[in-house]
Amino acid sequence: MTNTEESQIFDITTQLTMLGRNPDEQWGFVNSPLYKGSTVIHKTIDDLENHRGRFYYGTAGSPTIFILEEAWTQLTGAAGTVLSPSGLGAISLAFMSLTKAGDHILVCDSAYGPTRLLCNGLLRKYGVQTEYYDPLIGKNIGKLIKENTTVIFLESPGSGTMEIQDIPGIVSIAKKRSVKTILDNTWATPVFFDAHGCGVDISVEAGSKYLGGHSDLLLGLTSANRSCWPVLRTTYDAIAMLPGADDCLLALRGMRTLHLRLKEAEKKGLDLADWFRGRDEVEEVLHPAFKECPGHIYWVRDYKGSSGVFTVILKNKFTRTGLENMLEKMRIFQLGFSWGGYDSLLIPVNPSKYRTVVKWPHQGFTLRVQVGLEEISDLKRDLESGFQRLAAGDISKNSIRDHLVSVGLTEQT
Ligand SMILES: Cc1ncc(COP(=O)(O)O)c(C=O)c1O
Repeated sequence: MTNTEESQIFDITTQLTMLGRNPDEQWGFVNSPLYKGSTVIHKTIDDLENHRGRFYYGTAGSPTIFILEEAWTQLTGAAGTVLSPSGLGAISLAFMSLTKAGDHILVCDSAYGPTRLLCNGLLRKYGVQTEYYDPLIGKNIGKLIKENTTVIFLESPGSGTMEIQDIPGIVSIAKKRSVKTILDNTWATPVFFDAHGCGVDISVEAGSKYLGGHSDLLLGLTSANRSCWPVLRTTYDAIAMLPGADDCLLALRGMRTLHLRLKEAEKKGLDLADWFRGRDEVEEVLHPAFKECPGHIYWVRDYKGSSGVFTVILKNKFTRTGLENMLEKMRIFQLGFSWGGYDSLLIPVNPSKYRTVVKWPHQGFTLRVQVGLEEISDLKRDLESGFQRLAAGDISKNSIRDHLVSVGLTEQT
């Protein structure tokens, strides 16, 4: 609808409505049409041989893919964006673009589990050595940079553990030492954190989460600044891992309401996190907007908001049976991976299983909360009854009960 310069004078929420469509070229229709296809017809042999047309074959993109790429580029202030069939695909692409055999890379200990698997498996196989670092290391990251370090990977807040990283601090050291930075910005999205404005080289968004917003698509967006864009595009063109055009159209549709859904998730997330904080069953709530969340000061300094995903650590007195009893019988909160959709999810996570640098200090069960768009009082009621079912597996109460039974009394006496 507008070119980059025109749209950038508007607030990001206005840009979300303007980008990625051009009614003048769409017979006046408000939204862009869907282009699917492999073959593109060329008028001359010269056009065919020299790829003169804007599109020349399906693996190099289609108008539907292009408009989402362009919209994301403008929204993020990047030099260019490419789209992948999943968020994990987008992360893999970023690593493939910036690493080669013999490289050493630094990855935060709080990274999304499959990112770790990628580093420990495929990247290792191709001769790239990964070293994990404390996500709260800040500018001390410089001490870990070696002669062959090429990439620092950040994810903020960390998956499950919620540490907010000092992104500008790490980026400033990386730039001085000619190391590239990749950020998984999925939790905040460009609405709440300006990755490229902060100097990050490649920013990754799992569009399967908040951009899609309806748990009905898988998509990844990888955007790069001027220095990394050529290598990102070349790597992408070499492997041609494109998403389906239908999913791109769904993402464009999701983009129009991204800020509204994020703000609602923020409001509900804060309300619910505060409610959890007041519960007897809870040891700690890790929400970036709360003082006790590691790296909270960086959230205050760098972020414009918080989305609806946070972590709750239960007191160390419940049993697995109690937890199953709670989570498997919820009416609204469901057990399911992913997040950023309209529905609420509640799953157990176990950071002590995979962290290698910073030991997870908690013994109690840890829950990842994804707050959806349901009425907050219904969500609390659902949790309230969940906690009652959890209490059936309260070791301290059960041992009192066992003791009373053993001396011939009941709890009521
Ligand atoms: C922080 C983060 N990044 C990336 C991904 C990967 O996204 P996708 O599920 O689209 O592969 C996820 C998925 O849960 C995630 O939580």
